[in-house]
Amino acid sequence: MRRGCPVAVLLCLAVGVVTIHHVHAQATFANVTLRANGGDLEAVVYLPQGLKPGEPTYYQSTRFDWSSMIGHITRTSTDWQGNKETHTLYGIRNWRVPHDPYWPESGMGLASEFGVGDDGSFCNFFCGWNHVNEVTNGVLGYRDAKIGESFLKIGVGELIKGSCSSCDSAEDYKFNSPYQFATPPVWTLDDPGDGRSITLNHEAVLREHGYQLKKEITLHDDQLLVKTTLRNIGRVPFATAWYSHHFFTCDSHPVGSGYEVDVDLAATDGEYEEPGTWSWATPLQDYAEIDATKDTVSIRMQRGVESNVRIKAEFVKDDHSRGGFTLKACHTSIHETIPEVSKSSSGISMYAYNLYVESGTFSPEPQIYIHLMPGQSTSWTQQLDFQDYLPPSLSSRFYSLQQNINPMMHSFHPPPIPMAVISILAGAVLGAFVMLRMTNRRRGSYNLIPDCDPLVNPHADIQDNNVCGFPRDLLCKG
Ligand SMILES: *[C@@H]1O[C@H](CO)[C@@H](O)[C@H](O)[C@H]1NC(C)=O
Repeated sequence: MRRGCPVAVLLCLAVGVVTIHHVHAQATFANVTLRANGGDLEAVVYLPQGLKPGEPTYYQSTRFDWSSMIGHITRTSTDWQGNKETHTLYGIRNWRVPHDPYWPESGMGLASEFGVGDDGSFCNFFCGWNHVNEVTNGVLGYRDAKIGESFLKIGVGELIKGSCSSCDSAEDYKFNSPYQFATPPVWTLDDPGDGRSITLNHEAVLREHGYQLKKEITLHDDQLLVKTTLRNIGRVPFATAWYSHHFFTCDSHPVGSGYEVDVDLAATDGEYEEPGTWSWATPLQDYAEIDATKDTVSIRMQRGVESNVRIKAEFVKDDHSRGGFTLKACHTSIHETIPEVSKSSSGISMYAYNLYVESGTFSPEPQIYIHLMPGQSTSWTQQLDFQDYLPPSLSSRFYSLQQNINPMMHSFHPPPIPMAVISILAGAVLGAFVMLRMTNRRRGSYNLIPDCDPLVNPHADIQDNNVCGFPRDLLCKG
């Protein structure tokens, strides 16, 4: 196993990769930068097209909600000695570079999708953890449209059925392929001018289908709130899943040792499935330690993820889970909850819970289920709380120093903690691994095509980056 490889080699690799990543020039796109906490917390909202006329926009493709490009979070913390440390969270330098606004999966930060991140327009029966029926994959009016007619993708707009370059059979909705717009989507921006909040609005109506979407984005002290309100303005009910992809990296470090996430899935005992490992995915336990405690399941990366490796774990149902998690990397922890999940007045429940990992993203993906009658609306809020974080073995030393402090000791500086120590400690920990269950499971009409589709990849440069490091034939199975 490569887990045993010498720390020196790992460090050398890490330094090499970091150096390469600093070379990329950064393009600019229409945005609003929100600030809070005396300027110590900043988040960039990349605006949908048309809100700043003439400026290039970050995302114009057909998978993610255009109002969800929220990230490039810069957070400065001050330790007990007054030293300042600044980290960039959810940055854009690691994921699908060079960036292409017309490529469906080129989201950033909290990019969210209505649907499950899989192909197929609909799941009929036994869908998700709770075995619900009749769940649309974020698209409305797909099945009743003929080729060349329109359908709606929630958060994206009115698209043309059969217009994607990989639509071999138009019956099959391809979540990760670019479709042509039937009409450009319309967005409006409310900017109260307080520098820490904005609201984005959009709606689309087609035949008996329609939705209205509002996104309220607020920074407040050391917290980011992203509240989504979805209203059914059509004449027929619909149900959909929704998730935020969480394109997380920290200080542009490729995903590897030092990245951790605690997921709110204690009752699963860390059990998960990996249906993709038969074709396109790599087992999580080759790269991470998975530890179940009575409160949480911790996934700690142990080594770097090669550029052609993709990992997708699908956690088994946990009746108690409300989709919370805590990401930890570069001395920062980010705790996300969606307080409305399981509150009966919201009608929002859990749908599934996945973890997706590549070199360029560490993505916990709790998925929620939303059912709306005509005229009905519901809201849910991603609440991200930021905190300083040191890995436990180091923080116990740090805090005991802090407690013993007295005026005589003010000039005492603890030695800086080198990444090597963190790597060694992380590498030395041995935990119990969960049994990998490579079972296929019931997935309704969704199939197992992953986050990346080389068949429609128009750009040689993306291929060169090894985004899709597997033979076309594997995916091209009709
Ligand atoms: C945001 O927009 C400003 C111009 O308004 C630009 O200078 C800046 O680089 C943009 N930020 C990002 C992260 O694209």
